[in-house]
Amino acid sequence: MDKTLEAFGRIDGLVNNAGVNFVQPFLQTGEREWDHIMDVDLKGSFFLTQYCARQMVHQEPKGGSIVQIASVHTLASLPGAGPYDAAKRGMIGYSKAVAVELAKDNVRVNVLSPGLCATEIWKDIVAAAPSEAECLKFWNANIPSERLIAPDEIAQACIFLLSDMSSAITGANLLADCGMTSQLISKEPYVAKGGTVKSSMKSMKTGNRLTRTATRADYE
Ligand SMILES: NC(=O)c1ccc[n+]([C@@H]2O[C@H](COP(=O)([O-])OP(=O)(O)OC[C@H]3O[C@@H](n4cnc5c(N)ncnc54)[C@H](O)[C@@H]3O)[C@@H](O)[C@H]2O)c1
Repeated sequence: MDKTLEAFGRIDGLVNNAGVNFVQPFLQTGEREWDHIMDVDLKGSFFLTQYCARQMVHQEPKGGSIVQIASVHTLASLPGAGPYDAAKRGMIGYSKAVAVELAKDNVRVNVLSPGLCATEIWKDIVAAAPSEAECLKFWNANIPSERLIAPDEIAQACIFLLSDMSSAITGANLLADCGMTSQLISKEPYVAKGGTVKSSMKSMKTGNRLTRTATRADYE
């Protein structure tokens, strides 16, 4: 930050991207692991936001944009991800408070929540699978776009949130997840086929109200 100030005289944007994660059964998670994730993901981003915001509210003209890189774990969880999920959801909590507090100073604070990205972490995930092909097959079934996200795509979303294109957006949690958290269950589930509800339409026509739960026959 000092180097940025030296070079440009002001700070217009901050992206809190540093993060650590591990997956460990809840019953075996120790205080050391909890503290490590909280220190980097939550405390680190909180105080970097504070350090940066102090500059943003004092510079002329006032203002800036702060982006917190959280995760789809802000919306849904995986077994063993308790500390990570708590930290990433915590980022939303304090970001909303800061967004409200600093809005009058033209400082915006938003969270960007990526889905599965092809970064170093992907190598670790593949290492836990029988093969990369098997690993991709599994994850593609759980991602509507059937692909991993490229780091550049997250960078583009950051640029949007840092720029004036998003000037009215503050306190938001923007998902960049290729639809991952919108999908209730993985591909090819056994679901009821579509159809018309004939008997309820008939009862509507005769002026009766449908007073019972629809049955299979209603859809045939
Ligand atoms: N890759 C994904 O699928 C994915 C999905 C959702 C969210 N994220 C989030 O995106 C961010 C980037 O993750 P990534 O996939 O590039 O992981 P990564 O491990 O490749 O990068 C994490 C970076 O954080 C830095 N870092 C860790 N501890 C630090 C510390 N104490 N001080 C300073 N820097 C530190 C590391 O040096 C590394 O450069 C993280 O916050 C992660 O939680 C990643």
